[in-house]
Amino acid sequence: MEKTLLIVKPDAVEASLAGSILAAIESAGFRISALEMRELDHEIAAEHYAEHSERPFFGELVEFITRSPVVLARLEAPDCVAAFRQLAGATNPEDAEEGTLRKRFGTSLQENAVHGSDSLQSANRELALFFGK
Ligand code: RTP
Ligand code: MG
Repeated sequence: MEKTLLIVKPDAVEASLAGSILAAIESAGFRISALEMRELDHEIAAEHYAEHSERPFFGELVEFITRSPVVLARLEAPDCVAAFRQLAGATNPEDAEEGTLRKRFGTSLQENAVHGSDSLQSANRELALFFGK
């Protein structure tokens, strides 16, 4: 079964929304096959977001994702990567469609509640980074 990486970001965990977000994801048909709460260090956060290392917002992005614990999950479903990006919604919650996780739970471009891998290749890389082989 296809897999993807979910991160419930610090803003959502701080707002006690982790359970509601996981429930919405399960209700939408995704199976959770690994789950962990962890405070990320700068090194793993920078590695996760390596594709953005030259962007002006990279420093803020790493500070944000490391500021308090996140919930990491491996999700499984048919067409999981694309299906979860659809459920997550647009990067900026203001642009996200009604019913998406970012529309429901996100508050700003940075504090957008969830991460989902953007391709099968990213999913495999990110799952190995956080959960190992
Ligand atoms: P993510 O990786 O977190 O799931 O988000 P995404 O694929 O929808 O968006 P991506 O382009 O990968 O950007 C990663 C995160 O960086 C923040 N961002 N800030 N200031 C800016 O212009 C800007 N652009 C992106 C967002 O918080 C985004 O989730
Ligand atoms: Mg991304």
